[in-house]
Amino acid sequence: MGVCRLLLLTALFLLTYTVSADPDMLQDLCVADLSSRNSLSLSLYFFMRSVRVNGFTCKANITADDFFFAGIGNPGLTNNSMGALVTGANVQRIPGLNTLGVSLARIDYAPGGLNPPHTHPRATEVVFVLEGQLDVGFITTANVLISKTIKQGDVFAFPKGLVHFQKNNGMVPAAVISAFNSQLPGTQSIATTLFAATPPVPDNVLAKAFMVGTEEVQEVKSRFAPKS
Ligand SMILES: *[C@@H]1O[C@H](CO)[C@@H](O)[C@H](O)[C@H]1NC(C)=O
Ligand SMILES: *[C@@H]1O[C@H](CO)[C@@H](O)[C@H](O)[C@H]1NC(C)=O
Repeated sequence: MGVCRLLLLTALFLLTYTVSADPDMLQDLCVADLSSRNSLSLSLYFFMRSVRVNGFTCKANITADDFFFAGIGNPGLTNNSMGALVTGANVQRIPGLNTLGVSLARIDYAPGGLNPPHTHPRATEVVFVLEGQLDVGFITTANVLISKTIKQGDVFAFPKGLVHFQKNNGMVPAAVISAFNSQLPGTQSIATTLFAATPPVPDNVLAKAFMVGTEEVQEVKSRFAPKS
């Protein structure tokens, strides 16, 4: 009886633990050899030749710069269609984060700027407001919106995988530092994912899903088309 309960608790703990973030590491460090993924022409070669354990291969010759990034100290340019910019400080910029299960980002928002509804498949996100004020929210799988207005110095958490957004409804710029329990949280921006995929998601799929006509679907798709 006692042993069964212990085994059950252990199994539950392991299950909770193993799905909570990136897998834990088995060594001090493993600085990502980003070139093992960057080279498109060689990607198949590397896919065939090197074995990655759910991350990047480790490089042998490392320096302090592999653990360093100076790119989120200053505001990013927000003059894009959404009025917001995410600057990642993840394994792609800091190769030393490979296998460590953490990363940061900075997000800047112009007045009116929106970080549109999106999910991070591999991480929970915690934001700390550097300046300004934001209306933020996430939606549970029961379709309940959990939302709040947060201001400078506040912290807000967005649970792993749930759709969330941040909007600057103030008159001045806003900025946050985001922390993630993944070296590369991944982002699926809902509108872009559905309306700007390559090859495109069929119009009839989106028309039925959104209960509109294919003309409306094409209209939305055209707004996401690259400007030429
Ligand atoms: C390691 O990298 C440094 C800096 O890139 C370089 O100067 C040095 O020659 C490298 N050492 C080896 C053994 O490859
Ligand atoms: C945004 O502003 C920068 C600097 O002022 C400029 O170089 C860039 O072209 C602008 N981008 C767009 C999309 O307007």
